[in-house]
Amino acid sequence: MDIQSHQFITFFDAKSAAKLAQLATIETFSHQAIIFEEGEIPDYLYLVLEGQVNFRKWIRKHHYQIVATAQPNEFFGEFGVLDGQPRSAQAIVCETATVAKIPRAILMEILEKASSEVVLKLFNYVIQRLRVTTKDYVQQVAYKEKMVLVGEMVNTIIHDLKSPLSGIHLSSGMIKELHEDEETAEWCELIQEQAQRMTSMAEELLEFAKGLPSLKRDRLNLYSALQRFQKLNGVYCTNAGVELRVACPETVEIYADEAKLIRVVQNLVVNAVEAFNQQEGTIEIQVTPRPEWVQITITDNGPGIPAEIRETFFESFVTHGKANGTGLGTAIAKSIIDAHGGTLFFQTSEDRGTTFFLNLPYTTETQNATTLPLQIAPSLPRPS
Ligand SMILES: Nc1ncnc2c1ncn2[C@@H]1O[C@H](COP(=O)(O)OP(=O)(O)O)[C@@H](O)[C@H]1O
Ligand SMILES: [Mg+2]
Repeated sequence: MDIQSHQFITFFDAKSAAKLAQLATIETFSHQAIIFEEGEIPDYLYLVLEGQVNFRKWIRKHHYQIVATAQPNEFFGEFGVLDGQPRSAQAIVCETATVAKIPRAILMEILEKASSEVVLKLFNYVIQRLRVTTKDYVQQVAYKEKMVLVGEMVNTIIHDLKSPLSGIHLSSGMIKELHEDEETAEWCELIQEQAQRMTSMAEELLEFAKGLPSLKRDRLNLYSALQRFQKLNGVYCTNAGVELRVACPETVEIYADEAKLIRVVQNLVVNAVEAFNQQEGTIEIQVTPRPEWVQITITDNGPGIPAEIRETFFESFVTHGKANGTGLGTAIAKSIIDAHGGTLFFQTSEDRGTTFFLNLPYTTETQNATTLPLQIAPSLPRPS
């Protein structure tokens, strides 16, 4: 859009609008360019003409939380410009963005002479924003409280699970020693692995509740990982009347956190099995190496994702049609894929079932900072 038709400019009378448009500098920023840093002293008001700007707060080394975004026809930085306080977040460009920068001194000069009508329009805009801000804030507080409860609950569960799990571990180890045949050894290892998985699942939920996903990445051969996955889940699927197929070239390697990635596949496969609801069905996991990334698809021929939850599907606590659903499985999956720098989305229909697409970069040893996914905390007020 051009600067003259930007809503901020249209607040003013023709003369001031022309002056503002003339004195503004138009600048195009490339992907990941930083427009301003958190803590900087405000010098400009920014009008977004094209593209998107994200606002993120620094959490810890290399980790940021995206707190809001600005789209074309929106403006940002006005609070800082008006009260002179340091910027409350970093403004960083998503793909490319064109913004018009209006210097603080010029803006203040025009505002001082502006009519009450202009002031009212600005006032109105700020009030609307504060309304949204309050709503978001209340949502965020409610969300955090829920997460604190989940965290406390999981902590208790982990604590209570410890002793029965170590019992399972010890006894299966003992059986393995007493019976030296290969098959017993194999089943005992399976028991031990599953017990270990239960512990790590609970720990993972705890980590998710804290909102800080951390990855232990290593070179990972997807073929062997999925073979193991199929073996571990074979009995579960067969008992549910579901056929689980895996198709993966033997040599595909990525740089990923195996346990967490398998957790993603697990969550999606379990959901598909549950969606079949005792009916027979097929789940197919297919790996396709592409030049830039590896695509993993998980396809089921089940009933499709209910229309009511498609929009909010990856949000926490969204569950449908299950007596004991937590609504966390897909939110956890999304946060793990996001942390790997990948994407997760789905296609679904009532007649054909559902396919999840997991696109993962071969390597995510990025120089770039990891941005925590939005799912972990709902949006915060946009900083100014
Ligand atoms: N493959 C699928 N087919 C149909 N519905 C699905 C599928 N995967 C997920 N769903 C729906 O999405 C909801 C959210 O899943 P999830 O986040 O794992 O939470 P939960 O399984 O605890 O309900 C499920 O309750 C279910 O209704
Ligand atoms: Mg689930």
